Amino acid sequence: MDTAVLSTGTDQHVGSESVLVSPSAVDPLWWRSAVIYQIYIRSFADGNGDGTGDLAGVRSQLGYLRDLGVDAIWFTPWYASPLADGGYDVEDYLTIHPSFGELAEAEALIREALALGIRTIIDVVPNHISDQHPWFKAALAAEPGSPERERFWFRPGRGTNGDEMPNHWVSNFSGDTWTRTTGADGTPGEWYLHLFTPEQPDLNWNHPDVRRMHEDVLRFWFDRGVAGVRIDSAALLVKDPALPEVPDVVAPGEHPNTDRDELHDIYRGWRAVADSYDGTRILVGEIWLPDVERFAKYLRADEMHTAFNFDFMSRPWRAGELRESIDSMLAAHAPVGAPSTWVLSNHDVTRPVTRYGRDDTSFAFATKRFHTPTDRALGTRRARAAALLTAALPGSLYVYQGDELGLPEAEELPLDLLQDPMYFRSDGIDPGRDGCRVPMPWSGDKPPYGFTPSGAASAPWLPQPDDWADLTVEAQVRDSGSMLSLYRTALGIRRSHPALGDGPFTWLDSEEDERNSGVLAFSRGLGFVSITNFSDAPVTLPDYTRLLLSSVPLENGLLPPDSTAWLRTQH
Ligand code: GLC
Repeated sequence: MDTAVLSTGTDQHVGSESVLVSPSAVDPLWWRSAVIYQIYIRSFADGNGDGTGDLAGVRSQLGYLRDLGVDAIWFTPWYASPLADGGYDVEDYLTIHPSFGELAEAEALIREALALGIRTIIDVVPNHISDQHPWFKAALAAEPGSPERERFWFRPGRGTNGDEMPNHWVSNFSGDTWTRTTGADGTPGEWYLHLFTPEQPDLNWNHPDVRRMHEDVLRFWFDRGVAGVRIDSAALLVKDPALPEVPDVVAPGEHPNTDRDELHDIYRGWRAVADSYDGTRILVGEIWLPDVERFAKYLRADEMHTAFNFDFMSRPWRAGELRESIDSMLAAHAPVGAPSTWVLSNHDVTRPVTRYGRDDTSFAFATKRFHTPTDRALGTRRARAAALLTAALPGSLYVYQGDELGLPEAEELPLDLLQDPMYFRSDGIDPGRDGCRVPMPWSGDKPPYGFTPSGAASAPWLPQPDDWADLTVEAQVRDSGSMLSLYRTALGIRRSHPALGDGPFTWLDSEEDERNSGVLAFSRGLGFVSITNFSDAPVTLPDYTRLLLSSVPLENGLLPPDSTAWLRTQH
């Protein structure tokens, strides 16, 4: 760790005697405009050479994150876990996974990052828990009807021998949502519910222990200085206790396992915990809901601060579609006073460089297939334009590790090395999510590209493609035209320009004009305009006094296809 780096730009001291400064003591509204970098810890940087990323690796690259210009990092789950679903199967919330490090290292990391002005957000997974968690082991060992089983959803099967599932809910991961238990005498017993894999039994949120345990988890980590939590599968926790089938037409709030009204009370309780800490500790929901008004209900002043805007991420690369998404998300957020988030990808979805180079540029879990052709150059060009477009929109911005390097989806991973349950549970039809989770390339011209320290005994846990030499941090830092340089410059402008982040937003043209021209142009006030050209011909720029940044060079003063420019304007 470079201590010179750690002591710049702050009057805090780093080390064992350092004092935790409340992140938001400086700016209580930091989260409304923050740039939040998502670290998929297994794949970020490996400090100890075992082929898996870890806390030591992250600590060694905090300077990289500071230079990139991020305000916060969000860690995907770093807890003890059998990793049946990449850590979203938590065995113990109060222990760091031994492959990643120890609690003391996490505490040190939180302090060191904060000393560089970077806050830490962690992931909590309240819908389910690992089947190796003591609660579930105790439930399996106990009798039907026992208090141990009440923390989960155990039910007898239907049919004469109880060998039919209690209902036919469909898993987000393909396949069944119920697994039958075996009694101590070897005979088949009750079934238990798991909306994801059998290793992730769903918790019963009507049970007071479940609620208490999660509020204690929040306190444990807030006490250690974390600035917020990302709430996994946040709209799924509450179930209709009668566990009915999903009707063909579902009235708002009446789905038996999604977006039930009782959820809001849970999050009000969490908000009260967060607000009991000094400064602003934030709640960020992972909420996939087609109904944007229902979505925004979670963002009322006494619930979550923000939630991931997956609507924008899922749309195709087309001006009209994206404009519609921006309008509907801003309109839904306005009445609750919450800022929108802008997200191009995460550890669950196809990388933008690959997605935007395909014929169908939208994202949907159900349509992911192997061997979908893509034009990487076109996808990269559009991903650059998308990076500037999203960074100019009002609200907070998420950057998934590797997107700042323009990493493509790794689509040629050997099948026998794939790990994602989405692949296995779809019988190999869905390629799964391993392709966006391949370890980061830092330096050098061949795998492991500096991901593991030199001389490491183990190869990276997922193999990196052979053609990533040009995509390493080392290669891109030197190249002013690289994706990394674009991100660094853009985030630098975003940080220093008072119009960017949260604040006013105005389209420059009518919707019809923009639909016809294939251009999206908007002003953020204070003389800042962003313009993106989705059409296949160059377009004229509005009057401007200075070109601040463009995703590709202008051509004869015109904005080429699939590019974005940021302009300083008179008004
Ligand atoms: C969320 C996570 C995903 C995980 C799932 C189940 O969608 O982002 O990675 O598999 O929840 O916990």
